[in-house]
Amino acid sequence: MIPMNSATVKKIKGNLEGSIIIITGASSGIGKELALALAPMKPNLVIVARREKKIKHVAYQLKKLKVKVLPIVGDVRNREDRERIVDLTIKAFGRIDVLVNNAGLGKVSLFSEQPEDEIDELVETNFLALVKLTKKVLPIMKEQGEGHIINLSSTLALLPPYPFAVYSATKSAVKTFSDALREEVKGYGINVSTVLPGPYDTNFHEVANVGHGSFKVYKVSKLVRNIVDLLVKPKRDLIKPGMFTVLVWFTNLFPKIRRKISNQIGDQILQAKEETKRELEKERSTLKKEKIIVVSN
Ligand SMILES: NC(=O)c1ccc[n+]([C@@H]2O[C@H](COP(=O)([O-])OP(=O)(O)OC[C@H]3O[C@@H](n4cnc5c(N)ncnc54)[C@H](OP(=O)(O)O)[C@@H]3O)[C@@H](O)[C@H]2O)c1
Repeated sequence: MIPMNSATVKKIKGNLEGSIIIITGASSGIGKELALALAPMKPNLVIVARREKKIKHVAYQLKKLKVKVLPIVGDVRNREDRERIVDLTIKAFGRIDVLVNNAGLGKVSLFSEQPEDEIDELVETNFLALVKLTKKVLPIMKEQGEGHIINLSSTLALLPPYPFAVYSATKSAVKTFSDALREEVKGYGINVSTVLPGPYDTNFHEVANVGHGSFKVYKVSKLVRNIVDLLVKPKRDLIKPGMFTVLVWFTNLFPKIRRKISNQIGDQILQAKEETKRELEKERSTLKKEKIIVVSN
């Protein structure tokens, strides 16, 4: 039985005040910006990430904006951490209205060169952890008779470039999982949405070992405004920026063109990775030279 408290009577529909929202991966990028963008609507936020200093700083920023916030330091791949996220949320707020499964990462690599540990990290973080956290939250939402699960996929799930094979596969798994789950739970008043972003200006590219290269990145502030709208008015898919909706629709009709575009994106990504590698090597050799000069002085 879900304990009743003042938050229990709050309904999401069009009003997020008092709603209990869990956001995983809120120490940077989309998760952090979403938490801050939600602040004026006064929800109760549970924010999760591994980097303690960063997640506590986001919590501090939210508290300054008068938001009730519960920061949790945890790794979504870890079963005990997932249990802790759900148990602490229920203990603090008594219910879960929205789960934003945002924690994730990319790693650019040709599959034949990709280390197995990296494959594990991608599949476990982007897909398995998301599925298992959803599994833990679902019975609570069913008992409430309402809830909203928002899963972060990627436009690369629909236009998979070759140096991002495993990443794109995890993100299409997220899309497929969300589409199937939506049908299973719609009778319980639970919505399932998938967010499919194009390239946005977060730490994603650094973590993926690829600079921004020659491809355009978009402002994350605009994306999170669209995700806030999605929370208020749930819909199946959110593909952003808008031009990607047209691109996906068009390339679905013409598979040959889709392959060509995916390969062009792949070439750009690989080129950006090589550039980043060269820059890093240059920086390292400059540092080494400076060290030698200091030592010889
Ligand atoms: N930015 C883009 O261009 C883009 C495009 C399409 C899809 N996406 C998706 O959007 C989501 C957010 O990415 P972002 O762009 O905001 O990148 P980001 O700035 O690197 O943020 C990723 C977040 O995920 C957290 N995280 C990673 N592994 C985790 C784990 N095992 N346990 C808990 N938290 C974990 C990170 O926190 P800690 O390191 O502190 O744990 C961080 O807060 C990801 O799922 C990504 O695949 C991004």
